[in-house]
Amino acid sequence: MSRGLFVTLEGGDGSGKTTQAELLREWLAGRGREVVRTREPGGTEVGVEVREIVLHHRGDIAPRAEALLYAADRAHHVATLVRPALERGAVVLQDRYIDSSVAYQGAGRVLDAREVRALSEWATEDLKPDLTVLLDLDPETARTRLDASRTRYDRLEAEASEFHARVREAYLGLARDEPERFLVVDAALPAGEIAALIRARLEPLL
Ligand code: TMP
Repeated sequence: MSRGLFVTLEGGDGSGKTTQAELLREWLAGRGREVVRTREPGGTEVGVEVREIVLHHRGDIAPRAEALLYAADRAHHVATLVRPALERGAVVLQDRYIDSSVAYQGAGRVLDAREVRALSEWATEDLKPDLTVLLDLDPETARTRLDASRTRYDRLEAEASEFHARVREAYLGLARDEPERFLVVDAALPAGEIAALIRARLEPLL
């Protein structure tokens, strides 16, 4: 079976994932690869509706319900978009995946990280990324960047700074546990330098 490459981008809100995904898409397309750019939550029609609930519902959502909503979005996304693209041989460039749930619902909301991961592994029939790029940035710098670009914060962006500090530590822990899957980049570097680091790591996988 021909198989593409599954690349995920992770990091806090405001760490520059969208910019890097776009730079990477241009580079890969220039090399003649089919590239599918997508994101969670919200990579499918069903996902757009889930995204609206999970990010813009007024008031609290119970942590387990929040975890299930992200997992539901993920299950549908992987089954209908990501796996078919990989089976065609495409490179899938995805903004956020299971690591986001482990970091945000696990460490952020303080659910059991192993249970949160197990839920998403079940949802995706255990589809793992070939490479995960973690754009690491201290939460204060990220907040300053977001302030400059947002008029309105979503439910998770509006969380307190301790929440975002826990998320960052959780991400760094995940990267330490699986160095062969992760590339950790200092997101304070200029965008062009970050893009070059990512390309260097990706090149041998292509
Ligand atoms: P974004 O698309 O702007 O990155 O926003 C998605 C938000 O949802 C972001 O604050 C992180 C959060 N999130 C989770 O809490 N768990 C998840 O599994 C995913 C995919 C995102």
